[in-house]
Amino acid sequence: MKFGYFDDAAREYVITTPRTPYPWLNYLGNEDFFGLISHTAGGYCYCKDARFRRLTRYRYNNVPWDDGGRYFYIQDGDCVWSPGWKPVRTELDQYRCRHGLSYTIIQGVKNGLEAEALFFVPLGTWAEVHRLTLTNRSQAPRTFRVFSLVEWCLWNAHDDLNNLQRNFSTGEVEIDGSTVYHKTEYRERRDHYAFYGVNAPLVGFDTDRDAFLGAYNGFDRPAAVVEGKPRNSEAHGWSPIASHCVEVRLEPGEARSLVFVLGYVENPQEQKWERPGVINKAGARDLLARFATPAAVDAALQDLRSFWDRLLSHYVLESGDGKLNRMVNVWNQYQCMVTFNLSRSASYFETGIGRGFGFRDSNQDLIGFVHQVPARARQRILDLAATQFADGSAYHQYQPLTKRGNSDIGGNFNDDPLWLIFSTTAYIKETGDFTILDAPVPFDNDERSAQPLFEHLKRSFYHTVNNLGPHGLPLIGRADWNDCLNLNCFSNDPNESFQTTGNRAGRTAESLMIAGQFVLYGREFVALCARIGKGDEARAAQEHVDRMVRAVLEHGWDGAWFLRAYDFFGRKVGSKENEEGQIFIESQGFCAMAGIGLEEGRVVTALDSVRERLDCEFGVMLNQPAFTRYLIEYGEISSYPQGYKENAAVFCHNNPWIMIGETVLGRGERAFEYYRKIAPAYLEEMSDLHRLEPYVYAQMVAGRDAYRPGEAKNSWLTGTAAWNYYAITQFILGIKPGYDGLDINPCIPPAWEGFRVTRIFRGATYHIEVRNPRHVSKGIKRVSMDGKVLSGGAIPISDPGTEHRVMVELG
Ligand code: BGC
Ligand code: NOJ
Repeated sequence: MKFGYFDDAAREYVITTPRTPYPWLNYLGNEDFFGLISHTAGGYCYCKDARFRRLTRYRYNNVPWDDGGRYFYIQDGDCVWSPGWKPVRTELDQYRCRHGLSYTIIQGVKNGLEAEALFFVPLGTWAEVHRLTLTNRSQAPRTFRVFSLVEWCLWNAHDDLNNLQRNFSTGEVEIDGSTVYHKTEYRERRDHYAFYGVNAPLVGFDTDRDAFLGAYNGFDRPAAVVEGKPRNSEAHGWSPIASHCVEVRLEPGEARSLVFVLGYVENPQEQKWERPGVINKAGARDLLARFATPAAVDAALQDLRSFWDRLLSHYVLESGDGKLNRMVNVWNQYQCMVTFNLSRSASYFETGIGRGFGFRDSNQDLIGFVHQVPARARQRILDLAATQFADGSAYHQYQPLTKRGNSDIGGNFNDDPLWLIFSTTAYIKETGDFTILDAPVPFDNDERSAQPLFEHLKRSFYHTVNNLGPHGLPLIGRADWNDCLNLNCFSNDPNESFQTTGNRAGRTAESLMIAGQFVLYGREFVALCARIGKGDEARAAQEHVDRMVRAVLEHGWDGAWFLRAYDFFGRKVGSKENEEGQIFIESQGFCAMAGIGLEEGRVVTALDSVRERLDCEFGVMLNQPAFTRYLIEYGEISSYPQGYKENAAVFCHNNPWIMIGETVLGRGERAFEYYRKIAPAYLEEMSDLHRLEPYVYAQMVAGRDAYRPGEAKNSWLTGTAAWNYYAITQFILGIKPGYDGLDINPCIPPAWEGFRVTRIFRGATYHIEVRNPRHVSKGIKRVSMDGKVLSGGAIPISDPGTEHRVMVELG
């Protein structure tokens, strides 16, 4: 069952009923200022940091769900309605929500009156613009009142929910013309305020929530709206809001647009005040003036569209499969931008007050994004590296506002450092910018300790070398990529967090996932060293990699698949000897991608075991059999009921590891089958079961053992986005940036006739046509560029601005 459709030409997902199985979200903003907006206009916005600079309030896990957002109410005689159906939930004659690239348009029609609300954050702007266009589609003149509503958050979104004894007394606002200013705590240490204004005179306003709603009312029936009478309330403490009331009169066929601006301004200390107690509003006035007319809004929206046209022009696929095209060309890339921008901070499953930017998460997100805005990827690499410790380990996360690492969600995840090698080499391959390696970067943000970035990569590499366990395999530390495989945790206290508790300080628990990761990214490190003339460094590193390969072959093989780990007691994890959790996806994925034991047939055997034991209708499950009881020596993984999250769900993040593994074997059919199983566009028809947005990946889909297999959770902010993009574009379609050019080596289902890709790489444009006349999966027969046959699959680097025709024949 579907709840909308893809409008491919407009690059929009059009939702045709407000009753989706869960709020379906979109993101506004691409740089500092971000908004989350659901298909009924729920959500919130913030500047730079979802926790510390929250503009509007949101109540998580509320009932009815998704209450609170930027709402418009239309009071048309006795009928009160909202263009997005919520919060009023008056039945609409027509409803549409168009989620586009960084904008959302919600349109409702009631009794011949049409209201269309456009929401977006103009480029380079610290504000959301809301343009509400009202059209009289009836035969008679209409006069009605429009009320807006946002509820302010008192900035620190965590404190806002918590510290009510203080917060109920701190709220302050100013009202000036048609603008409400939110200035809580501005009198003391804050140098920022928010505002919500409209380009029309007001009948009245409200800034005190309880006055506007009336005691005991919800957002669905504000007393002021029902009575059509704004209270002109001034908030002192309690819960400040901003609500405008505008009267509109429309002749038949007439339309009128109101432009609302919801913005954020920072003032230098010495310019905070206009006069004592009155805030300096210059910044807000500028913003309001910039968007004072519908034409200015149109121009800003056009800029945003052009921005996305440019971003998406770097990799354009034409295949015979419309779903694949829309994933590769639009939605997967879009999600990659969003995960790059937000890491795991703010979605409808991440509250924005829990997690900042993850070290491993953001390094991985970058892989799917680096071709879009390489300069931002560069800065992100430097920011991440600056939170690394001198011994190569890293804080697990940092707060975007301060860019300083913290231990709030634990540390000593021993996979963390190696992701920095992955992201940095991907960046250099995309851009050719080796100078990043010379950029001075501090350890633990202490400027005095700065060393060239290369030194950070080296310490990442040697962090593994210096932390090997009894079998010569990497120590897992608190956990590896799987945050829930907590082999040193041993917690029997429900008040402890699995993520921060380490009751045993063992140097015995080892990870085969990190072993594969070390071989894979260790080889990247070796290749990089060789490429920049550090031959000795390369040779020394190669020896460590070779030694790791031997350790895996000797101690990491269970007969038909790779082990997952050795636990604190040195016992096998992920072995046929175990009762549950006999086989895990992570080590199969990483050891296969690294090709460990490829010649000996181990990769093929391991991936066949994955097929046999982990594959299900909805994708590849994380482990099998699922854990049916809590194992203190395994930690959080066994805390989840079977089929959910890290305990045997289809954890979509690591399915691409298996896809890429299959391409190592040349099995394009299987690689693509795994791709299709979890790619959202292919799941659209089962949206009722899946429940989440059919245009973006979710972190996990409940596995075979769950109560509702196929039901998804945690959409949007997941490494799934970057990894699937990486797998499809670079391994299945097989167009891979390298230091010296583009390597072409597709691995596709044999039935495919071929496909075309336009790739902008280092400023040159390549029109690549891949033909598959012999219906093979993999193997290059001939590559030519501009009519000249090239030896090997690599396309050399060309001058920026040039265009080239590349013909690839498989066979
Ligand atoms: C989740 C993991 C997540 C971790 C973050 C755990 O509860 O299951 O998916 O990585 O929290 O700290
Ligand atoms: C989600 C976390 O964000 C990520 O860092 C982790 O690797 C996965 N869960 C698996 O536990």
